[in-house]
Amino acid sequence: MADEKKHGARLMADRKDNATPSASDQEDEPAASARDRLERKPYTSEPGRRAIRSFVLRQGRFSEAQQRAFDLQWPQYGLDCIAAEGQPRDFDATFGRSAPRVLEIGFGNGEALRYAAAHDPARDYIGIEVHAPGVGRLLNALAEDGSRNVRVYHHDAVEVLTRDIAPATLDEGGLDEGGLDEIRIYFPDPWHKKRHHKRRLLQPEFARLLVSRLRDGGRLHLATDWQDYAEQMWDVLDATPGLRNRAGLRGHVPRPEWRPQTHFESRGQRLGHGVWDLLYDVRR
Ligand SMILES: C[S@@+](CC[C@H](N)C(=O)[O-])C[C@H]1O[C@@H](n2cnc3c(N)ncnc32)[C@H](O)[C@@H]1O
Repeated sequence: MADEKKHGARLMADRKDNATPSASDQEDEPAASARDRLERKPYTSEPGRRAIRSFVLRQGRFSEAQQRAFDLQWPQYGLDCIAAEGQPRDFDATFGRSAPRVLEIGFGNGEALRYAAAHDPARDYIGIEVHAPGVGRLLNALAEDGSRNVRVYHHDAVEVLTRDIAPATLDEGGLDEGGLDEIRIYFPDPWHKKRHHKRRLLQPEFARLLVSRLRDGGRLHLATDWQDYAEQMWDVLDATPGLRNRAGLRGHVPRPEWRPQTHFESRGQRLGHGVWDLLYDVRR
């Protein structure tokens, strides 16, 4: 109940200031006032310091149905990023079992996550998204499906990965303990303009963070419809220790059957965009 209240309060703040920019309308984030920074919590990791983030929160449409989804479904499917540094969440307790786990970052409206959870009940799925209407839509869909193997964060993925998700560790025998089975990032915001490239999610430091949360033998799967971003992904990921590109250096694979084609992708294809699926295996 306390969590529910806290999330309700956060939503009030989000609703004033929430929407993900489309690929075409991304602009520089306006300087944040002290009041903005307070309202934007929990997206500001260090109050008073402005981090470079991969998203901008703006006014967006948030329907009554989506609000109801948060009110009704958050207690079942929602996770707050509350772990103290060094004390990550116990996901076995969260899901009530110890199954391989898949993380999807920036799930948008949650189409791919909903599909995957329904078609792969043996694994547990964690989704992270900052765009409240998209989270609301997925919450409704999960309730409709009666899904039991999905949990959702409405938060910045960098903070969730750092604080709530434990790094994979090696036991005395050198075998992996814990660690995610897979991480998926489908069509991350491309931030087309060169001066915005620093906002792209796929940077060397973030790649190292991803690897640290994956088990040995785990998998990282990205997709983009923006060739310049695919080039940056190769620059970063082909050079990241512990990652091996399954298609060889600067290689990509056909869309695997586990990634359904989303509306976002179909629209891109109508506009004549290509699609690059990049698949990396973790080998420490
Ligand atoms: C272009 S959309 C793609 C959505 C979806 N993956 C798809 O394929 O339709 C990128 C999404 O990433 C989300 N996003 C960007 N940065 C994020 C972050 N740091 N943490 C969580 N979500 C983020 C945005 O809100 C947006 O919904």
